[in-house]
Amino acid sequence: MQQFIMALDEGTTSTRAIIFDHQGQKITEAQCEFPQYFPHPGWVEHNPNEIWNAVQSTIAQAFINSHIRPEQVISIGITNQRETTVIWDKKTGEPIYNAIVWQSRQTNELAENLIKQDLGEMIRQKTGLIIDPYFSATKIRWILDHVAGAQRRAEKGELLFGTIDTWLIWKLTNGRVHATDFTNASRTMLFNIHTLQWDEDILRLLNIPAQILPEVKSNSEIYGYTIPYHFFGGTVPISGVAGDQQAALIGQLALEPGMVKNTYGTGSFIVMNTGQNPTTSNHNLLTTIAYALNGNVTYALEGSVFVAGSAIQWLRDSMRFFKDAADSEKYALESKSNNEVYVVPAFTGLGAPYWDAQARGAIFGITRGTDRNDLIKATLQSLAYQTRDVVDTMEKDSDIKIKALRVDGGASNNNYLMQFQADILNTPIERAQILETTSLGAAFLAGLATRYWRDLNELKQVFKIGRDFEPKMDETARQDLYQGWLTAVRATQLFKH
Ligand code: G3P
Repeated sequence: MQQFIMALDEGTTSTRAIIFDHQGQKITEAQCEFPQYFPHPGWVEHNPNEIWNAVQSTIAQAFINSHIRPEQVISIGITNQRETTVIWDKKTGEPIYNAIVWQSRQTNELAENLIKQDLGEMIRQKTGLIIDPYFSATKIRWILDHVAGAQRRAEKGELLFGTIDTWLIWKLTNGRVHATDFTNASRTMLFNIHTLQWDEDILRLLNIPAQILPEVKSNSEIYGYTIPYHFFGGTVPISGVAGDQQAALIGQLALEPGMVKNTYGTGSFIVMNTGQNPTTSNHNLLTTIAYALNGNVTYALEGSVFVAGSAIQWLRDSMRFFKDAADSEKYALESKSNNEVYVVPAFTGLGAPYWDAQARGAIFGITRGTDRNDLIKATLQSLAYQTRDVVDTMEKDSDIKIKALRVDGGASNNNYLMQFQADILNTPIERAQILETTSLGAAFLAGLATRYWRDLNELKQVFKIGRDFEPKMDETARQDLYQGWLTAVRATQLFKH
């Protein structure tokens, strides 16, 4: 009987189930979008039950499409949108509020209060993070404050908190396992990345009862088993778990210090492997856990850009410039502009390295002749400029000159964007053959724990680069264009809501 690994990638706007074989080839992929809720400007929420239903239907579709049976799945890897926060009732399994999504700004005030109390340095030192509504801590506080009786119930041990990985593990195991992994824990702003424990000082500060927190495990070990009812008759181990950006780093096999990947998903997340010692950023990047394997913790520097693929979605759905995101490449190539238009897509504030929660998007440099193609091109370029902002910062912080940027995620399919990215960075771009490296990373983790793959060396035969893009732009043009971008960002930050 041939055996496979199933990866569940629960992202911000859709969820996927992908079945991989031993060569790392994608046998089948099922994808399901789920609703986004925007109850107030700047707020973003999901219904955790709708996420669960979407996950269940992708699992079913994957089995139906491939004719693979649950007993042929040797193990399951889970990867997820990070930081998004769910609190549910331990007995009934019902969430007490919607999931507050990582992008949501509804806890701005809570975060600002912490900043005003001068807690930034302490938080950064313990968690590697910058105080921002992005992370789970203030989202937990918000739910406990806004749902009647929630604080008391949390203190009595009646409620559980989880990021989406934890929620799915809990559902798949029918409430037997309440656990997360080091990478997801490191994004909560409650986890001490040095002691590798939930941090008691921060919990006390935010009045968050420790009993709601999940157990924290390594990225590749057996977390528990699916109950047959929730896995179409199969009892299968869940043996790999990682936040999606860390999973992509693993899927790209960026396992040596100094290796960097960028995933162009809803946002764009640039992660550099920094080895066994946490590197502190002097320029507002995050220090985070890359993975914990075989008893060793590896750290990373991360630059999180909040809007990337979602800017292309905005062109498609709100501006109605095209029906299919892939057409953005064709229109960008048709643009006659001389790159004088800049779009700064600060739809939910600016992430790294600016961390300006109040900024909102802006367009600069338009003339009477500016047309749709020019705006499409400028929006695609904004993804590359934002990446350069982070990569430049990373090089300063780590003292490492990045040799190549490994890329994956939906928008990395866009050849125009990838060439412009190589040009504006003056660094070669290596595009993975399988763009779903996030899922592949989760599959690798699950497969290592169940001996589907022997060790990391064996995985080197599985991962392949699909295409390289070499820089071609001349230096003066590169500098001029990038200076224009920096001016546009500065001007954007002057405009506050
Ligand atoms: O930190 C948020 C990130 O994990 C979301 O990833 O792929 O859903 O944009 P994605």
